[in-house]
Amino acid sequence: MKKNILLILLVSLVSILPAVAQEKKLFSETAAQKAGRMAWWTNDRFGMFIHWGIYSMAARHEWVKHNEHMTNEQYQKYFDFFNPVDFDPTTWARQAKAAGMKYAVLTTKHHDGFCLFDSKYTDYKATNTPAHRDLVREYVNAFRAQGMKVGFYYSLLDWHHPDYTMDDVHPLVQTDTSQANYDRLNKGRDMRKYRQYLRDQITELLTNYGKIDVLWLDWTWGKDDRRGKHAEDWGAVELIKLVRKLQPGIIINNRLGLDDYEDGGDFVTPEQVSPAELAKYKGKTWETCQTFSGSWGYYRDEDTWKTHRQLLDLLITSASNGGNLILNVGPTARGEFDYRAKNALDSLSYWMHANSKAIYGCTYAPAEYKTPDGTKLTYDPKTRRLYVHVYNYPADGKLTLPGYAGKVRYIQLLNDNSEVKSAAAGDDLSLTLPVKKPPFDIPVIELILN
Ligand code: GLC
Repeated sequence: MKKNILLILLVSLVSILPAVAQEKKLFSETAAQKAGRMAWWTNDRFGMFIHWGIYSMAARHEWVKHNEHMTNEQYQKYFDFFNPVDFDPTTWARQAKAAGMKYAVLTTKHHDGFCLFDSKYTDYKATNTPAHRDLVREYVNAFRAQGMKVGFYYSLLDWHHPDYTMDDVHPLVQTDTSQANYDRLNKGRDMRKYRQYLRDQITELLTNYGKIDVLWLDWTWGKDDRRGKHAEDWGAVELIKLVRKLQPGIIINNRLGLDDYEDGGDFVTPEQVSPAELAKYKGKTWETCQTFSGSWGYYRDEDTWKTHRQLLDLLITSASNGGNLILNVGPTARGEFDYRAKNALDSLSYWMHANSKAIYGCTYAPAEYKTPDGTKLTYDPKTRRLYVHVYNYPADGKLTLPGYAGKVRYIQLLNDNSEVKSAAAGDDLSLTLPVKKPPFDIPVIELILN
Protein backbone atom coordinates (compact mmCIF):
# COMPACT_ATOMS: atom_id res chain seq x y z
CA MET A 1 0.00 0.00 0.00
CA LYS A 2 2.66 2.47 1.15
CA LYS A 3 4.77 1.45 -1.80
CA ASN A 4 1.89 2.24 -4.16
CA ILE A 5 1.41 5.71 -2.75
CA LEU A 6 5.10 6.38 -3.07
CA LEU A 7 5.01 5.22 -6.66
CA ILE A 8 2.05 7.45 -7.46
CA LEU A 9 3.80 10.40 -5.85
CA LEU A 10 6.93 9.73 -7.82
CA VAL A 11 5.09 9.38 -11.12
CA SER A 12 3.16 12.59 -10.62
CA LEU A 13 6.34 14.43 -9.65
CA VAL A 14 8.12 13.28 -12.78
CA SER A 15 5.16 14.27 -14.93
CA ILE A 16 5.01 17.83 -13.59
CA LEU A 17 8.78 18.37 -13.78
CA PRO A 18 8.90 19.37 -17.45
CA ALA A 19 6.06 21.82 -16.85
CA VAL A 20 7.99 23.43 -13.99
CA ALA A 21 11.13 23.68 -16.14
CA GLN A 22 9.08 25.31 -18.91
CA GLU A 23 7.77 27.93 -16.55
CA LYS A 24 11.16 29.49 -15.85
CA LYS A 25 10.60 33.13 -16.66
CA LEU A 26 12.70 36.28 -16.76
CA PHE A 27 9.91 38.85 -16.88
CA SER A 28 6.49 39.26 -15.35
CA GLU A 29 4.65 40.01 -18.61
CA THR A 30 1.42 38.03 -19.03
CA ALA A 31 0.49 36.15 -22.20
CA ALA A 32 -2.14 38.78 -23.01
CA GLN A 33 0.38 41.59 -22.57
CA LYS A 34 2.81 39.80 -24.87
CA ALA A 35 0.11 39.33 -27.51
CA GLY A 36 -0.63 43.06 -27.29
CA ARG A 37 3.03 43.98 -27.65
CA MET A 38 3.35 41.72 -30.68
CA ALA A 39 0.00 42.53 -32.30
CA TRP A 40 1.40 44.61 -35.17
CA TRP A 41 4.01 41.95 -35.94
CA THR A 42 1.62 39.00 -36.04
CA ASN A 43 -0.71 41.05 -38.17
CA ASP A 44 1.84 42.28 -40.69
CA ARG A 45 3.34 38.90 -41.57
CA PHE A 46 5.88 40.14 -44.12
CA GLY A 47 9.19 41.92 -43.61
CA MET A 48 12.44 42.70 -45.39
CA PHE A 49 15.80 41.54 -44.09
CA ILE A 50 18.77 43.55 -45.30
CA HIS A 51 22.29 42.12 -45.10
CA TRP A 52 24.71 44.86 -45.97
CA GLY A 53 28.24 45.56 -44.94
CA ILE A 54 31.77 45.66 -46.28
CA TYR A 55 31.48 41.98 -47.25
CA SER A 56 29.22 43.24 -50.05
CA MET A 57 32.44 44.37 -51.75
CA ALA A 58 33.88 40.85 -51.84
CA ALA A 59 30.49 39.91 -53.29
CA ARG A 60 30.93 36.28 -52.36
CA HIS A 61 28.95 35.65 -49.15
CA GLU A 62 28.84 37.52 -45.84
CA TRP A 63 30.93 34.73 -44.34
CA VAL A 64 33.79 35.37 -46.76
CA LYS A 65 36.19 36.24 -43.95
CA HIS A 66 35.54 32.86 -42.35
CA ASN A 67 35.32 30.90 -45.60
CA GLU A 68 38.68 32.19 -46.80
CA HIS A 69 40.28 32.33 -43.33
CA MET A 70 41.19 35.99 -43.71
CA THR A 71 43.07 37.95 -41.11
CA ASN A 72 41.98 41.48 -40.16
CA GLU A 73 44.77 42.80 -42.37
CA GLN A 74 43.64 40.80 -45.39
CA TYR A 75 40.05 41.97 -44.87
CA GLN A 76 41.04 45.61 -44.43
CA LYS A 77 40.78 46.50 -48.14
CA TYR A 78 37.00 46.24 -47.96
CA PHE A 79 36.95 48.78 -45.15
CA ASP A 80 39.37 51.14 -46.90
CA PHE A 81 37.39 51.23 -50.15
CA PHE A 82 33.78 50.95 -48.95
CA ASN A 83 32.04 53.75 -50.81
CA PRO A 84 28.33 53.15 -51.41
CA VAL A 85 27.72 56.09 -53.73
CA ASP A 86 24.21 54.94 -54.67
CA PHE A 87 22.97 54.32 -51.13
CA ASP A 88 19.52 55.83 -50.88
CA PRO A 89 17.50 54.18 -48.14
CA THR A 90 14.34 55.99 -49.22
CA THR A 91 14.47 53.99 -52.44
CA TRP A 92 14.99 50.80 -50.42
CA ALA A 93 12.05 51.63 -48.21
CA ARG A 94 9.82 52.38 -51.20
CA GLN A 95 10.79 49.09 -52.84
CA ALA A 96 10.09 47.16 -49.65
CA LYS A 97 6.78 48.89 -49.12
CA ALA A 98 5.69 48.33 -52.70
CA ALA A 99 6.38 44.61 -52.29
CA GLY A 100 3.98 44.60 -49.35
CA MET A 101 6.63 44.35 -46.66
CA LYS A 102 5.68 46.14 -43.46
CA TYR A 103 8.89 46.03 -41.46
CA ALA A 104 12.60 45.84 -42.09
CA VAL A 105 15.61 44.52 -40.23
CA LEU A 106 19.07 45.79 -41.16
CA THR A 107 22.43 44.33 -40.16
CA THR A 108 23.90 47.04 -37.93
CA LYS A 109 26.91 44.77 -37.37
CA HIS A 110 27.52 41.34 -38.88
CA HIS A 111 29.91 38.57 -37.83
CA ASP A 112 32.86 40.42 -39.38
CA GLY A 113 32.41 43.06 -36.67
CA PHE A 114 32.01 45.99 -39.06
CA CYS A 115 29.46 48.53 -37.82
CA LEU A 116 27.21 50.46 -40.17
CA PHE A 117 26.46 52.81 -37.27
CA ASP A 118 28.54 55.40 -35.48
CA SER A 119 29.61 53.68 -32.28
CA LYS A 120 31.69 55.32 -29.58
CA TYR A 121 33.23 51.98 -28.73
CA THR A 122 35.00 51.13 -31.98
CA ASP A 123 36.77 52.69 -34.94
CA TYR A 124 35.60 49.85 -37.12
CA LYS A 125 32.56 51.66 -38.44
CA ALA A 126 31.06 53.29 -41.52
CA THR A 127 31.96 56.81 -40.45
CA ASN A 128 35.65 55.92 -40.86
CA THR A 129 35.26 54.49 -44.36
CA PRO A 130 34.87 56.59 -47.52
CA ALA A 131 31.10 56.45 -46.77
CA HIS A 132 31.77 58.86 -43.87
CA ARG A 133 28.29 58.63 -42.37
CA ASP A 134 26.11 56.75 -39.96
CA LEU A 135 24.26 54.55 -42.44
CA VAL A 136 22.00 53.09 -39.77
CA ARG A 137 20.65 56.51 -38.93
CA GLU A 138 19.77 57.16 -42.57
CA TYR A 139 18.08 53.76 -42.81
CA VAL A 140 16.02 54.38 -39.68
CA ASN A 141 14.88 57.80 -40.84
CA ALA A 142 14.01 56.67 -44.35
CA PHE A 143 12.07 53.55 -43.38
CA ARG A 144 10.20 55.31 -40.63
CA ALA A 145 9.24 58.08 -43.04
CA GLN A 146 7.68 55.45 -45.32
CA GLY A 147 5.59 54.17 -42.41
CA MET A 148 7.55 50.97 -41.98
CA LYS A 149 8.49 49.39 -38.69
CA VAL A 150 12.23 49.44 -38.07
CA GLY A 151 14.41 46.60 -36.81
CA PHE A 152 18.08 46.01 -36.04
CA TYR A 153 20.02 42.85 -36.64
CA TYR A 154 23.10 42.69 -34.43
CA SER A 155 25.69 39.93 -34.56
CA LEU A 156 26.74 38.46 -31.24
CA LEU A 157 29.73 37.00 -33.05
CA ASP A 158 32.57 39.36 -33.84
CA TRP A 159 35.55 38.33 -35.94
CA HIS A 160 37.29 41.66 -35.60
CA HIS A 161 37.14 42.50 -31.91
CA PRO A 162 40.52 41.93 -30.17
CA ASP A 163 38.89 40.40 -27.06
CA TYR A 164 36.58 37.99 -28.83
CA THR A 165 37.92 34.49 -28.19
CA MET A 166 38.32 31.59 -30.60
CA ASP A 167 35.54 29.18 -31.44
CA ASP A 168 34.90 26.68 -34.19
CA VAL A 169 33.90 29.29 -36.79
CA HIS A 170 36.42 32.00 -36.09
CA PRO A 171 38.30 32.87 -39.30
CA LEU A 172 41.67 32.56 -37.59
CA VAL A 173 41.06 28.95 -36.63
CA GLN A 174 42.09 27.09 -39.74
CA THR A 175 42.70 23.37 -39.96
CA ASP A 176 44.53 23.31 -36.64
CA THR A 177 41.77 22.93 -34.06
CA SER A 178 44.10 21.69 -31.32
CA GLN A 179 43.83 23.19 -27.86
CA ALA A 180 47.38 24.46 -28.24
CA ASN A 181 46.40 26.49 -31.27
CA TYR A 182 43.31 27.88 -29.49
CA ASP A 183 45.48 28.84 -26.53
CA ARG A 184 47.99 30.54 -28.78
CA LEU A 185 45.30 32.54 -30.60
CA ASN A 186 43.46 33.39 -27.39
CA LYS A 187 46.50 34.96 -25.74
CA GLY A 188 45.52 38.41 -24.47
CA ARG A 189 41.82 38.03 -25.40
CA ASP A 190 39.28 38.66 -22.67
CA MET A 191 35.60 37.81 -23.17
CA ARG A 192 34.65 39.93 -20.16
CA LYS A 193 35.68 43.00 -22.10
CA TYR A 194 33.80 41.77 -25.15
CA ARG A 195 30.66 41.24 -23.05
CA GLN A 196 30.88 44.84 -21.97
CA TYR A 197 31.29 45.87 -25.62
CA LEU A 198 28.06 44.03 -26.46
CA ARG A 199 26.20 45.85 -23.70
CA ASP A 200 27.66 49.20 -24.73
CA GLN A 201 26.77 48.82 -28.38
CA ILE A 202 23.29 47.48 -27.69
CA THR A 203 22.79 50.47 -25.43
CA GLU A 204 23.84 52.82 -28.21
CA LEU A 205 21.57 51.16 -30.75
CA LEU A 206 18.58 51.19 -28.45
CA THR A 207 19.14 54.71 -27.17
CA ASN A 208 20.29 56.84 -30.08
CA TYR A 209 17.77 55.97 -32.81
CA GLY A 210 14.35 56.43 -31.24
CA LYS A 211 11.84 53.62 -31.04
CA ILE A 212 13.17 50.35 -32.43
CA ASP A 213 10.54 47.76 -33.22
CA VAL A 214 12.56 44.57 -33.61
CA LEU A 215 15.93 43.33 -32.35
CA TRP A 216 17.35 40.38 -34.24
CA LEU A 217 20.35 38.99 -32.37
CA ASP A 218 22.49 36.38 -34.10
CA TRP A 219 23.46 33.68 -32.88
CA THR A 220 24.31 31.17 -30.17
CA TRP A 221 25.63 27.65 -30.57
CA GLY A 222 23.73 24.53 -29.53
CA LYS A 223 24.14 23.43 -25.92
CA ASP A 224 26.41 20.52 -26.78
CA ASP A 225 28.72 22.36 -29.16
CA ARG A 226 31.88 22.32 -27.14
CA ARG A 227 33.77 24.85 -29.21
CA GLY A 228 30.99 27.33 -29.52
CA LYS A 229 29.66 30.24 -27.53
CA HIS A 230 26.71 30.05 -25.22
CA ALA A 231 24.36 32.30 -23.27
CA GLU A 232 26.96 32.82 -20.50
CA ASP A 233 29.53 34.03 -23.03
CA TRP A 234 27.24 36.87 -24.07
CA GLY A 235 25.93 37.55 -20.58
CA ALA A 236 22.59 36.81 -22.23
CA VAL A 237 20.30 37.17 -19.22
CA GLU A 238 21.70 40.59 -18.39
CA LEU A 239 21.62 41.56 -22.05
CA ILE A 240 17.96 40.74 -22.60
CA LYS A 241 17.06 42.58 -19.39
CA LEU A 242 18.94 45.60 -20.65
CA VAL A 243 17.13 45.45 -23.98
CA ARG A 244 13.70 45.28 -22.36
CA LYS A 245 14.58 48.11 -20.03
CA LEU A 246 15.74 50.38 -22.86
CA GLN A 247 12.91 49.50 -25.26
CA PRO A 248 9.97 47.95 -23.41
CA GLY A 249 7.91 47.52 -26.58
CA ILE A 250 10.60 45.82 -28.66
CA ILE A 251 10.23 42.34 -30.18
CA ILE A 252 13.28 40.07 -29.82
CA ASN A 253 14.13 36.88 -31.69
CA ASN A 254 15.25 33.69 -30.00
CA ARG A 255 18.97 33.45 -30.76
CA LEU A 256 20.47 34.50 -27.44
CA GLY A 257 20.63 30.92 -26.19
CA LEU A 258 17.93 31.45 -23.56
CA ASP A 259 15.77 28.49 -24.55
CA ASP A 260 15.41 27.40 -20.94
CA TYR A 261 13.26 30.43 -20.32
CA GLU A 262 9.74 30.71 -21.59
CA ASP A 263 10.37 34.38 -22.38
CA GLY A 264 14.03 34.18 -23.49
CA GLY A 265 12.85 35.34 -26.95
CA ASP A 266 9.58 36.38 -28.56
CA PHE A 267 9.63 34.26 -31.69
CA VAL A 268 11.42 31.29 -33.21
CA THR A 269 13.44 31.68 -36.38
CA PRO A 270 13.36 28.74 -38.80
CA GLU A 271 16.08 29.65 -41.30
CA GLN A 272 15.94 28.69 -44.98
CA VAL A 273 13.55 25.81 -44.37
CA SER A 274 11.28 24.45 -47.11
CA PRO A 275 7.61 25.46 -47.22
CA ALA A 276 6.67 21.88 -46.30
CA GLU A 277 8.61 22.16 -43.05
CA LEU A 278 6.74 25.28 -41.96
CA ALA A 279 3.70 23.23 -40.98
CA LYS A 280 5.49 22.04 -37.86
CA TYR A 281 5.64 25.58 -36.42
CA LYS A 282 1.85 25.95 -36.44
CA GLY A 283 0.74 27.17 -33.02
CA LYS A 284 4.09 28.79 -32.18
CA THR A 285 5.07 32.40 -32.74
CA TRP A 286 7.53 32.30 -35.61
CA GLU A 287 9.21 34.04 -38.50
CA THR A 288 11.02 32.17 -41.24
CA CYS A 289 14.01 34.01 -42.65
CA GLN A 290 14.76 33.33 -46.29
CA THR A 291 17.09 34.57 -48.99
CA PHE A 292 16.32 35.32 -52.63
CA SER A 293 19.39 33.28 -53.55
CA GLY A 294 21.83 31.13 -51.60
CA SER A 295 23.52 33.96 -49.69
CA TRP A 296 22.47 36.75 -47.32
CA GLY A 297 25.14 39.21 -48.34
CA TYR A 298 25.39 40.27 -51.98
CA TYR A 299 26.84 37.39 -54.03
CA ARG A 300 27.63 38.39 -57.58
CA ASP A 301 28.21 34.95 -59.08
CA GLU A 302 25.63 32.95 -57.16
CA ASP A 303 22.75 31.90 -59.34
CA THR A 304 20.28 29.84 -57.35
CA TRP A 305 17.66 32.57 -57.20
CA LYS A 306 14.22 31.50 -56.09
CA THR A 307 11.50 31.84 -58.71
CA HIS A 308 8.52 34.15 -58.28
CA ARG A 309 6.36 31.13 -57.56
CA GLN A 310 8.75 29.86 -54.88
CA LEU A 311 8.70 33.25 -53.17
CA LEU A 312 4.91 33.41 -53.30
CA ASP A 313 4.73 29.90 -51.93
CA LEU A 314 6.89 30.89 -48.97
CA LEU A 315 4.73 33.91 -48.25
CA ILE A 316 1.42 32.07 -48.56
CA THR A 317 2.64 29.01 -46.68
CA SER A 318 3.91 31.19 -43.85
CA ALA A 319 0.57 32.93 -43.41
CA SER A 320 -1.31 29.66 -43.83
CA ASN A 321 0.64 28.22 -40.89
CA GLY A 322 0.29 31.30 -38.73
CA GLY A 323 3.79 32.71 -39.16
CA ASN A 324 5.82 35.53 -40.67
CA LEU A 325 8.20 35.65 -43.60
CA ILE A 326 11.24 37.93 -43.61
CA LEU A 327 12.80 37.95 -47.05
CA ASN A 328 16.38 39.06 -47.45
CA VAL A 329 17.98 41.49 -49.87
CA GLY A 330 21.76 41.82 -50.06
CA PRO A 331 22.41 45.26 -51.55
CA THR A 332 25.54 45.76 -53.65
CA ALA A 333 28.62 47.58 -52.39
CA ARG A 334 27.34 50.64 -54.26
CA GLY A 335 24.30 50.52 -52.02
CA GLU A 336 21.64 49.35 -54.45
CA PHE A 337 19.39 46.34 -54.80
CA ASP A 338 20.69 44.60 -57.93
CA TYR A 339 18.48 43.83 -60.92
CA ARG A 340 17.66 40.32 -59.72
CA ALA A 341 16.45 41.57 -56.36
CA LYS A 342 14.50 44.36 -58.04
CA ASN A 343 12.78 41.91 -60.38
CA ALA A 344 11.89 39.63 -57.49
CA LEU A 345 10.48 42.54 -55.48
CA ASP A 346 8.56 43.88 -58.47
CA SER A 347 6.90 40.54 -59.04
CA LEU A 348 5.87 40.43 -55.38
CA SER A 349 4.53 43.99 -55.62
CA TYR A 350 2.32 42.98 -58.49
CA TRP A 351 0.86 40.04 -56.58
CA MET A 352 0.56 41.82 -53.25
CA HIS A 353 -1.18 44.82 -54.76
CA ALA A 354 -4.05 42.51 -55.69
CA ASN A 355 -3.89 39.86 -53.00
CA SER A 356 -2.47 41.27 -49.76
CA LYS A 357 -5.81 40.86 -47.96
CA ALA A 358 -5.10 37.13 -48.04
CA ILE A 359 -1.83 37.69 -46.12
CA TYR A 360 -2.14 40.56 -43.62
CA GLY A 361 -3.90 39.56 -40.43
CA CYS A 362 -4.24 36.02 -41.73
CA THR A 363 -3.46 32.67 -40.20
CA TYR A 364 -4.43 29.04 -40.68
CA ALA A 365 -8.02 28.15 -41.43
CA PRO A 366 -10.32 26.66 -38.78
CA ALA A 367 -10.16 22.85 -38.90
CA GLU A 368 -13.70 22.51 -40.32
CA TYR A 369 -12.48 23.91 -43.66
CA LYS A 370 -10.63 21.24 -45.59
CA THR A 371 -7.95 22.34 -48.01
CA PRO A 372 -9.24 21.76 -51.56
CA ASP A 373 -6.89 19.86 -53.90
CA GLY A 374 -4.18 22.00 -55.47
CA THR A 375 -4.71 24.95 -53.11
CA LYS A 376 -3.60 26.42 -49.79
CA LEU A 377 -5.83 28.27 -47.35
CA THR A 378 -5.37 31.39 -45.29
CA TYR A 379 -7.97 32.87 -42.98
CA ASP A 380 -8.62 36.27 -41.47
CA PRO A 381 -10.15 35.66 -38.03
CA LYS A 382 -11.22 39.31 -37.65
CA THR A 383 -13.27 39.51 -40.84
CA ARG A 384 -13.94 35.74 -40.88
CA ARG A 385 -12.97 35.55 -44.53
CA LEU A 386 -11.34 32.50 -46.00
CA TYR A 387 -8.83 32.66 -48.85
CA VAL A 388 -8.24 29.86 -51.30
CA HIS A 389 -4.86 30.23 -53.01
CA VAL A 390 -5.18 28.36 -56.29
CA TYR A 391 -1.80 26.73 -56.94
CA ASN A 392 -3.01 24.36 -59.66
CA TYR A 393 -5.47 26.34 -61.69
CA PRO A 394 -8.09 23.99 -63.20
CA ALA A 395 -8.05 23.99 -67.01
CA ASP A 396 -11.86 23.78 -67.16
CA GLY A 397 -12.37 26.34 -64.36
CA LYS A 398 -14.06 23.77 -62.09
CA LEU A 399 -12.94 23.69 -58.47
CA THR A 400 -14.56 21.67 -55.70
CA LEU A 401 -14.57 22.89 -52.12
CA PRO A 402 -15.09 19.71 -50.07
CA GLY A 403 -17.72 19.99 -47.36
CA TYR A 404 -18.27 23.73 -47.90
CA ALA A 405 -21.95 23.59 -48.92
CA GLY A 406 -24.09 25.83 -46.72
CA LYS A 407 -21.10 27.56 -45.15
CA VAL A 408 -20.47 30.36 -47.63
CA ARG A 409 -22.43 33.51 -48.36
CA TYR A 410 -20.53 35.03 -51.24
CA ILE A 411 -17.50 34.19 -53.34
CA GLN A 412 -15.27 36.43 -55.42
CA LEU A 413 -11.86 36.59 -57.02
CA LEU A 414 -9.71 38.70 -54.78
CA ASN A 415 -7.78 40.47 -57.55
CA ASP A 416 -10.83 42.19 -59.08
CA ASN A 417 -13.73 41.43 -56.72
CA SER A 418 -15.52 39.65 -59.54
CA GLU A 419 -18.19 37.16 -58.55
CA VAL A 420 -17.46 33.45 -58.68
CA LYS A 421 -20.56 31.34 -59.21
CA SER A 422 -21.04 28.25 -57.13
CA ALA A 423 -23.48 25.39 -56.75
CA ALA A 424 -23.92 22.86 -53.98
CA ALA A 425 -23.23 19.27 -54.92
CA GLY A 426 -24.14 17.28 -51.84
CA ASP A 427 -21.88 18.54 -49.04
CA ASP A 428 -19.49 20.08 -51.50
CA LEU A 429 -19.48 23.38 -53.24
CA SER A 430 -18.60 23.43 -56.90
CA LEU A 431 -17.08 26.66 -58.21
CA THR A 432 -17.01 27.94 -61.73
CA LEU A 433 -13.85 29.98 -62.21
CA PRO A 434 -13.02 31.81 -65.41
CA VAL A 435 -11.47 29.38 -67.87
CA LYS A 436 -8.84 31.99 -68.62
CA LYS A 437 -6.64 32.07 -65.55
CA PRO A 438 -6.47 35.50 -63.89
CA PRO A 439 -3.07 37.09 -64.56
CA PHE A 440 -1.43 35.98 -61.31
CA ASP A 441 0.82 33.04 -60.76
CA ILE A 442 -1.31 32.01 -57.81
CA PRO A 443 -4.78 33.61 -57.97
CA VAL A 444 -6.83 33.91 -54.79
CA ILE A 445 -10.53 33.31 -54.18
CA GLU A 446 -12.18 35.11 -51.30
CA LEU A 447 -14.95 33.36 -49.40
CA ILE A 448 -17.29 35.40 -47.25
CA LEU A 449 -18.49 32.88 -44.71
CA ASN A 450 -21.95 32.57 -43.23
C1 GLC B 1 22.95 32.72 -40.04
C2 GLC B 1 24.23 33.27 -40.61
C3 GLC B 1 24.16 34.66 -41.00
C4 GLC B 1 22.84 35.25 -41.33
C5 GLC B 1 21.73 34.68 -40.51
C6 GLC B 1 20.36 35.15 -40.90
O1 GLC B 1 22.93 32.79 -38.68
O2 GLC B 1 25.30 33.13 -39.73
O3 GLC B 1 25.13 34.97 -41.94
O4 GLC B 1 22.94 36.58 -41.00
O5 GLC B 1 21.79 33.32 -40.51
O6 GLC B 1 19.37 34.38 -40.33
